[in-house]
Amino acid sequence: MQDAEAGAGLIEFNREAAQEEERAGTAKKVFIKTFGCQMNVYDSERMADALGAAGFIGTDSLHDADLVILNTCHIREKAAEKVYSELGRIRVVQDARRRAGRDLTIAVAGCVAQAEGREMALRAPAIGIVVGPQSYHRLPALLEAYAKSGKTVIETEFPAAEKFGALPAPKHRPAPSAFLTVQEGCDKFCTFCVVPYTRGAEYSRPAADILDEARWLLDRGVREITLLGQNVNAYRGLGPSGQPFGLPDLLAALSDLPELKRLRYTTSHPNDMTASLIAAHRDLPKLMPYLHLPFQAGSERILKAMNRKHTMADYLRIVEELRAARPDIALSTDVIVGFPGETEEDFQETMRTVEAVQFAQAYSFKYSARPGTPAAERSAQIGEDVKADRLARLQTLLSAQQAAFNRSMVGRTLDVLWEAPGKKQGQVSGRSPYLQAVHAEGELALLGRITAVEIVSAGQNSLHGVIKNWRTLAIC
Ligand code: 5AD
Ligand code: SF4
Repeated sequence: MQDAEAGAGLIEFNREAAQEEERAGTAKKVFIKTFGCQMNVYDSERMADALGAAGFIGTDSLHDADLVILNTCHIREKAAEKVYSELGRIRVVQDARRRAGRDLTIAVAGCVAQAEGREMALRAPAIGIVVGPQSYHRLPALLEAYAKSGKTVIETEFPAAEKFGALPAPKHRPAPSAFLTVQEGCDKFCTFCVVPYTRGAEYSRPAADILDEARWLLDRGVREITLLGQNVNAYRGLGPSGQPFGLPDLLAALSDLPELKRLRYTTSHPNDMTASLIAAHRDLPKLMPYLHLPFQAGSERILKAMNRKHTMADYLRIVEELRAARPDIALSTDVIVGFPGETEEDFQETMRTVEAVQFAQAYSFKYSARPGTPAAERSAQIGEDVKADRLARLQTLLSAQQAAFNRSMVGRTLDVLWEAPGKKQGQVSGRSPYLQAVHAEGELALLGRITAVEIVSAGQNSLHGVIKNWRTLAIC
């Protein structure tokens, strides 16, 4: 799963109970800070929904909040340390509020909560609630239990199926492009990765629930949906008539919804890129020509040690098939350098793979030993300086490919879905079919619409375009 922009998230609350309480001045306020991937962004919104039903409204100021939730990520780096340093900051606010006769409840959610919640609660008694990703629907009950007992409440069980059924329908006001979680967890057990431990076994939501949620989003102006799952292309849900339903079936069913204009899915494992999923990229015009397909390492030896269960030849064959199915498909990937035992020659295989595929975008990381994963136990750990040197060389290559891909758009006309006001006044920003950020002069009435844009310049991370006749477009 790619990293989303981490940061404080003001989740839009829009529910009647909370609004009434707000009018009466009695509504409690929650501040949610989200780290990590899109799945966490989605989860934060759903926590907001669960709390909204219990009378909470959102705030973007920690100082105003009665409840702060840190929605954490454990995938790389010193995740727990990051949380402790946040907690230090929050404790100061908590103390000040207590002195003023008000309280601030601290909840830690997400994968760090799942993996290390118990130890954290012991080390940081200011934490009131520890809640794992499968239990967000229980937040109101956990708050009540904490208020009653005054003792830290820890909920890190794994009843995945229960969660989706129990969470209230989304109530936040969605942006034109929305995420929709269809699958959670992972059974692959790559030796570097904590996800199978923090998110548990694979679980696929029933298609009927997903279609309901999609219709709900479309009724509120959403035009693009990105299906989310740690292993989204391993989706195997129950079809609308109880039949087995794979991701290609789900994509086809969603494509039939007239208001939906664009579909994407992330993140995928090469072994689940079936022939019918590849064919969906040929057959479904709404499925955007972009795919995030991590390969992690170019050396067969390292792929084996990673327990990736695919060879480099498999990966390259899939890329070829995808390009045959959808010639303009833009590929993105995840790469790790400095996995235990990686030699310079292994690393060169990674560089050669990048050269061979030509990625439009990529996320690259230094290997980070995650406690409890098999690779962390290996003796042949690679030094930080070697990892940093390899990452720098890899990123130089990847950046050049991304810049070249962006430059190849100049002079072309692309369909852009306008999603947000631009950074500068009078500008709007959106995404191309290839997921590039595009900026152009235009009015806010364009948000939620798709217009043709002539690309006039390209940077490392975005494109600038001209909506030729936007002043004369009938915007309604
Ligand atoms: N060290 C470095 N990168 C990792 N990833 C997952 N675990 C680790 C780790 N221990 C990367 C993988 C994955 C992405 C989401 O994060 O590339 O695809
Ligand atoms: Fe982690 Fe591998 Fe599963 Fe991806 S496929 S979530 S890297 S274990």
